[in-house]
Amino acid sequence: MTTITVPGARSVRSGFVKGGRRLGRMYLEVAAVVWRRSSTALINSRPVQAYGNHLHRMSRQRAGRDLSLTHTFFFRNRPQLELIVKLLNKAPHGSTIDIAVVGWSNGAEIYSISYAVRRERPDVDLRITGLDVSRNMVEFARRGVYRERNAAEQPSSIFERTSAKEMEEMFTHEPDGLSVKEALRRGVSWRVADATDERLVEAVGIQDFVIANNFLCHMQPNDAEKCLRNISRLVAPGGHLIASGIDLEVRSKVARDLDWIPITDSIHELHEGDPSLRAGWPFEYWGLEPLNPSRADWRMRYASVFRVVRTRSEPAPGIRTEA
Ligand SMILES: C[S@@+](CC[C@H](N)C(=O)[O-])C[C@H]1O[C@@H](n2cnc3c(N)ncnc32)[C@H](O)[C@@H]1O
Repeated sequence: MTTITVPGARSVRSGFVKGGRRLGRMYLEVAAVVWRRSSTALINSRPVQAYGNHLHRMSRQRAGRDLSLTHTFFFRNRPQLELIVKLLNKAPHGSTIDIAVVGWSNGAEIYSISYAVRRERPDVDLRITGLDVSRNMVEFARRGVYRERNAAEQPSSIFERTSAKEMEEMFTHEPDGLSVKEALRRGVSWRVADATDERLVEAVGIQDFVIANNFLCHMQPNDAEKCLRNISRLVAPGGHLIASGIDLEVRSKVARDLDWIPITDSIHELHEGDPSLRAGWPFEYWGLEPLNPSRADWRMRYASVFRVVRTRSEPAPGIRTEA
């Protein structure tokens, strides 16, 4: 086949693409105005929810995802923390529990886990490894001193989901902010690490729980898929992987491919557990669609906690391997 190059064709095509993008942006802007003026009853109706999913697909396709976003909260998703503690409660008295938390921003997530686990299970030897690609974040988290808004992009107080009792039990007052108490720092180590690095498992070792919240959504879907597969290699067979804040198609594809078992306890509560994610739907790429239980695949699609029964290097049951 001969390809004929017409001078100027590329710029005409890119003009169409740009024009299409501009039209798409305008369409989404108008839709957002109408959406915000609509009643909750209308928004919750089946056809409008389906339209919302269409808008969300458009928003995701058009998004220039931003990996530098760092805003977070203490106790960001309380039902998720409660489920982690419940799963961990099956561990025998005095056992050692290894948890890796990947992409945790300023450390609030890790100290929340440390508090929640130690409160319920003071007997376990808890070892938490925090892995984040940002050296600044690692230094900040290691210092562990917080003000309501540490980052310019923090939308509201980092403590807005923390009760008065938790504030008292977690922090001491310092001149420059609230400092995490020593007991919650015990067993926590901080590392600068890239979750996409294939040598991660050799560097960090196998874990009982691996938590990867709200950073995979900031990667393009193909990169997020590769990264999630890589992170999952850290989970010991029989251990748990927790991943929220990721495109649902990416997560459920990897979960199906790797035979993860979705944990459906409190699935509705976990889904609604981080109000910011739900509020971001349908116009933010990181927004979370409403849980639709009439979908045949709803458990796999909406579960954010999974039991990992085999590691990537192990063959699936029934698959023959060369001797
Ligand atoms: C929005 S914060 C998520 C904070 C926390 N996990 C939460 O749920 O609130 C995203 C964090 O992911 C980190 N991050 C982005 N890409 C990463 C990568 N490839 N490996 C490790 N951390 C990464 C960023 O440095 C940032 O601290």
